Amino acid sequence: MDDLIIAPSVLSLDYSNLQSQLDEVKKSGAQWLHFDVMDGHFVPNLTFGPDLLKGIKKASPLYLDVHLMVNDPVFFSDIFANAGADLITFHCEALGNDMKKVSDLLDHIHKCGIKAGVVVKPKTPVQILEPVLDKMDLVLVMSVEPGFGGQSFMPDMLPKLSWLKDYRENHHLGYRIEIDGGINDQTAKLAREAGADVLVAGSYVFKNDICDAVDSLR
Ligand code: DX5
Ligand code: ZN
Repeated sequence: MDDLIIAPSVLSLDYSNLQSQLDEVKKSGAQWLHFDVMDGHFVPNLTFGPDLLKGIKKASPLYLDVHLMVNDPVFFSDIFANAGADLITFHCEALGNDMKKVSDLLDHIHKCGIKAGVVVKPKTPVQILEPVLDKMDLVLVMSVEPGFGGQSFMPDMLPKLSWLKDYRENHHLGYRIEIDGGINDQTAKLAREAGADVLVAGSYVFKNDICDAVDSLR
């Protein structure tokens, strides 16, 4: 998987300039928008509902990568699939790391006609996903504790990326490997070398010149 995807996280977007910031992201050549849904329970923060996703879909042609940080991903996956998500990822921890439930939800999201993947928190070993990796379009590795933008990258998450890359190659699978949290020009390099092919970046993109920041992640 040689083509690198940059997914700016709208968590750090300046909402007083929504359209111009989205236009700038498009101009930067970033291909996806990362949309962090937090329910105030799975993580101690509260963010966006489906109406905002619908608005962003009208305001930008970019692919919508929805990251569900919620206690009930079964309920919310339908809501965000209907609102226009192109890809939905959910945390296996929210399903008690029960791979039967994870597998069923992946099937359900696929039946909605969109792509599906699973997220692991820093303390969750990625190897627990082995039984369901063949069903996934993407695996998302958290390199910070989920909940807030602007935290520091955890380098000890890099071996998860390498493991996923080797497993994909050895088993001829096709999932993408996404990394989320603390990505900047330096940590992007480490993540890419370890195997990431989708880079989420929030504060680094939106607290700098958007085009320059996206360029420097490539
Ligand atoms: C954190 C979110 C991230 C967040 C990343 O829970 O999942 O997507 O926006 O922000 P930065 O890039 O600032 O670490
Ligand atoms: Zn995220």
